[in-house]
Amino acid sequence: MQPDRDILRQSNPGEAPWEIVRYERIDSTNLELLRLAEAGAPVGTVVVAATQSAGRGRLGRNWSDLPGRCLLMSVLLEPPEEAPGLLTAAMALAAAEAIDQCAPTEPRIKWPNDVLVAGRKVGGVLAEGPAGGPVAVGLGVNVNGSRAELPAELRDRAGFVSEEPGHDVLVGELEAAVLLRLDRIRAELVAGDGEALLERIARYDSLSGREITVATGADSLRGIARGWLPDGRLLLRLEDGREVPLDAGEVTVES
Ligand code: BTN
Repeated sequence: MQPDRDILRQSNPGEAPWEIVRYERIDSTNLELLRLAEAGAPVGTVVVAATQSAGRGRLGRNWSDLPGRCLLMSVLLEPPEEAPGLLTAAMALAAAEAIDQCAPTEPRIKWPNDVLVAGRKVGGVLAEGPAGGPVAVGLGVNVNGSRAELPAELRDRAGFVSEEPGHDVLVGELEAAVLLRLDRIRAELVAGDGEALLERIARYDSLSGREITVATGADSLRGIARGWLPDGRLLLRLEDGREVPLDAGEVTVES
């Protein structure tokens, strides 16, 4: 065993049937979970790390952390057949609800995968995995810290959960809350109750009704966000009145 892989296996008694594998340090919880899955780990396996040496963000970006002060976790989940995109939404919702529970803040979800507090990104979700199999749904949350500790180019748009209440939040408590929320959301997905999920997402949605620009590869579309669709896509009303569902994109809020 490598020294930085301080593994603690823990099955969570009570409501959440997750098996948690903990590391002090790992390259990426997503990558480690996919390796464990390849070696036979079942759906419901969770990898948590205190720090990552090669954390992965969307669009090939890095995801960096302050060791021990961020929540870094990945959960192995089976994508719902008709709406695989909902896994990202499910994790973002679990994170927003958990932050709501653990800290007096007003978290928001920004399609497709950001978690915001006070308008700043504090968390993100990245789902990765081979087509047709279980997926590693990774969540990173900046929990305790101040913007001064972030790289200068991120200080305007990123932050930490603790900045809003003005006091530290227990990372372990947030982790447990995310897993409990996710357990309930997963049950709703399995039961085909996507409506309940959408209603709760709508409560946290930071974009609905706002004028946004969505960069989708080569194109850039401007319009009014009309909310999440049952399959996890975003509905955008264009300036000419047409409504288009979007699978992916980078959103900028215009007003
Ligand atoms: C984003 O770009 O917003 C998504 C960031 C996802 C980061 C998390 S941290 C835990 C998990 N492991 C990774 O390597 N990435 C995800």
